[in-house]
Amino acid sequence: MTGKTIRIGVVGCGFYAQNHLNAWRDLATDGAVLAAVCDVDPDKARAAGETFAAPWYTDVRKMLAAEKLDAVDIVTRQDTHRELAETAIAHRVAAIVQKPFAPTWEDATAIVEAAKKAGVWLAVHENFRYQAPLRAIRKVIDSGAIGEPSWARIAFRTGFDVYRTQPYFYDEERFVIADVGVHVLDVARFLLGDVQRISCETQRRNPKVRAEDTATMLLRHESGAVSTVEVTYEARRADDAFPETLMEIEGPRGSIVVTAGCRMKLTSDGEATEHDIGAPLLSWTSHPWHVSQEGAMGACRHFLDCLQRGVPAETRGEDNLRTFALVDAAYRAATEHRAVTPVRWS
Ligand SMILES: NC(=O)c1ccc[n+]([C@@H]2O[C@H](COP(=O)([O-])OP(=O)(O)OC[C@H]3O[C@@H](n4cnc5c(N)ncnc54)[C@H](O)[C@@H]3O)[C@@H](O)[C@H]2O)c1
Repeated sequence: MTGKTIRIGVVGCGFYAQNHLNAWRDLATDGAVLAAVCDVDPDKARAAGETFAAPWYTDVRKMLAAEKLDAVDIVTRQDTHRELAETAIAHRVAAIVQKPFAPTWEDATAIVEAAKKAGVWLAVHENFRYQAPLRAIRKVIDSGAIGEPSWARIAFRTGFDVYRTQPYFYDEERFVIADVGVHVLDVARFLLGDVQRISCETQRRNPKVRAEDTATMLLRHESGAVSTVEVTYEARRADDAFPETLMEIEGPRGSIVVTAGCRMKLTSDGEATEHDIGAPLLSWTSHPWHVSQEGAMGACRHFLDCLQRGVPAETRGEDNLRTFALVDAAYRAATEHRAVTPVRWS
């Protein structure tokens, strides 16, 4: 074992939680202990408990009373995040909350304020920026190979049937920006820095969904860089790259072009090189979800390391409020037909 033991309770054992459960199991050699699982649905709680050899509960309060936990990993849908996070914080247990952080700005800021007041560690499981390709791109930018980025196009365009595993998408009041736009806007912040203003056009191209399934956004970053962020679940193409984020980033010395299959073409001072920036499959990951699954693993690894060292996570609550504010600003921009400055929490 390489680090201090961190005892984790996973709350919500549905579709995406399987990735968290596998990640924590893999991280046992680094000090993670999957100490308990919880789901209000007893069948899901029992199945996760049996598969991952952990005591299972149907009530988070009972789990917190019975188990000595260092952290609670909340993988329920957003409507329950505030109550569950505030419960963990009230028990002085660190909280990791899946994205979207919460349904509203009021809920998200209330969670951050509660954690701050109690002095409890809080992070958002915003996982795209922890994917191997995103880390590789960030490293190239940090190396100075293209100079300071001044323009980018960042795109998540797919027609993959996301409704099969997440049927709740049909009824969301805020859909593609809140679901996957939140990831890609966070990627834009991760690669180009915070955003001064954003404009946005939304479309509902699939008549079966209630809200927008396509968004085209234009961002002015504080650095002066300009980027477009595109997200859609309605792109029909034979070489669908789901769930990869493709992009082009330009700077004064060169460019980074990322294409399907985690391929990166780097041009630096006129010299072009090609790189495979993907990660190998893990025992529990599979195509096509592996890029997302590997990102969840990367996020859990980062949180474990931060909890062991007692330092804030990169995607701590306060940081994620900046991404959340960008999502809110995009919706306002689309409704009001104008560029909007994201609000700042202080
Ligand atoms: N990061 C990613 O790439 C990614 C991908 C998919 C989903 N997600 C996010 O993961 C979260 C969960 O999504 P999902 O598709 O797994 O949903 P899901 O409906 O499959 O699973 C949610 C589970 O939470 C349980 N639950 C609800 N309230 C609870 C409570 N109070 N206590 C304990 N358990 C409770 C439900 O019974 C259900 O089993 C969402 O926030 C979603 O946006 C993230």
